[in-house]
Amino acid sequence: MIVGSKVFHLNEVDSTNEYIKQILQGSPEGTVVVADTQTAGKGRLGKTWFSPEGGLWMSVLLQHPDNCLLPLTAGVSICEAFQSYDISPRIKWPNDVLLNGKKIAGILTEIIDDRAILGIGINLNVQQFPAELREKASSVFIETKKHFSTQSFLQHLCKAVNENYQLLKDERIDDLLAKWRSCSIMLGRDVRIELPGKTVIGKVLDIDRQGALIVVRADYSIEHVMAGECRLLD
Ligand code: BTN
Repeated sequence: MIVGSKVFHLNEVDSTNEYIKQILQGSPEGTVVVADTQTAGKGRLGKTWFSPEGGLWMSVLLQHPDNCLLPLTAGVSICEAFQSYDISPRIKWPNDVLLNGKKIAGILTEIIDDRAILGIGINLNVQQFPAELREKASSVFIETKKHFSTQSFLQHLCKAVNENYQLLKDERIDDLLAKWRSCSIMLGRDVRIELPGKTVIGKVLDIDRQGALIVVRADYSIEHVMAGECRLLD
């Protein structure tokens, strides 16, 4: 399987994740859908995703739907693709990719039957953001003052996803987690994680083999947190 061996390029779509759902049947693993703009881009937790021209909005069709390390694999791949341009974004758990402390990319994984859809949004050349997003979101163009070829970046990203997905399939989890650790801003940080019905406050020790964040509380109790809204406190 080669990620990106088949690429559908659309000018405009509601959401690349929704589009790929329509062509699931008969599409091989590794199929990629890319759009110049999305009219109803979807973010995590039911939020909308700002998707104007200039961004890289894409979805990748994969298997292994039961694998909770897929989003982590995508985060590592995004960071590695940027390393080819001497840019070093960092991963904020669970799935945000930050540059200079601002979110430049996000990942939305959806499972349909025996397939996984890896939705990746990268604010590559986005020129400006609505006022309500400006505090937390940015683009690589705004942060570096450089313009990037979407096509070239897509190739770097497909190569990285391909390699890291292969690590996952080969169950080389330690290798994948080592990469994640080197891209992440989480280790040793004080965090507050909001979960349905509870809040976890503590220091991040590590990530486990399921992709859960290992957090130690002030009373030394340890919690493995699978998902949630995470805020850095230090
Ligand atoms: C997040 O909230 O951080 C996840 C954002 C994921 C956005 C991407 S853009 C391509 C794909 N299609 C969508 O509708 N969403 C994902």
